[in-house]
Amino acid sequence: MTSRHFLFIVSSARVPGALGNTEWLAREAARHLPAGATGTWLHLNRLDLADFEDRRHDIGTYPMPSGDTHRLLEATLAATDLVFVTPLYWYSFPNRLKRYLDHWSAWMRVEGLDFKGRMQGKRVWAITTSGNREKSQPMFDSLKLCAEFLAMRWQPPLWGQGGAPGAVEKDAAAVAAAANYFGASAT
Ligand SMILES: Cc1cc2nc3c(=O)[nH]c(=O)nc-3n(C[C@H](O)[C@H](O)[C@H](O)COP(=O)(O)O)c2cc1C
Repeated sequence: MTSRHFLFIVSSARVPGALGNTEWLAREAARHLPAGATGTWLHLNRLDLADFEDRRHDIGTYPMPSGDTHRLLEATLAATDLVFVTPLYWYSFPNRLKRYLDHWSAWMRVEGLDFKGRMQGKRVWAITTSGNREKSQPMFDSLKLCAEFLAMRWQPPLWGQGGAPGAVEKDAAAVAAAANYFGASAT
């Protein structure tokens, strides 16, 4: 059986080094990974992710990326489980996560990479904090559609009450749900 490897992609725009609510909740969940699983954490605000350029209908292909963009690509392919650790910004996800997802479109067109084929079947998780669970639904729907576009397996999201750092620690339901998150719903 292949061992599981979780890639946590943190997209909060808090200053580098500050522990936001969403990462705090994700770290609670990560204390309870399935047996034998490993984890890697990447903070998008500590990486220099290249601008995305839409070349689909002129140049057509993309070169293999370099620098931090290549590092993200490699980490993405190495994971069996992608975890979007994302606060809600304006009923959607932060611009850094959007830019990362835009690069999927480029990576699908890197010759010989077979990005789409290699993404198929990975599990996709989302851990979010915001002012309101209900208003996070459009973001969850969007992430689910992105996952399904690449035939990945969308998992039920984990939500906690956000606000100033520390707010989610008072959300007892979210803290309890975090402890069971990765074990409970893996299919
Ligand atoms: C730019 C920005 C936009 C936000 N938009 C929303 C929103 O649309 N709905 C909401 O409930 N909270 C919104 N919030 C609040 C954050 O979702 C909340 O504070 C969250 O816990 C921050 O996560 P973090 O502590 O991990 O950075 C927004 C915060 C920022 C900075």
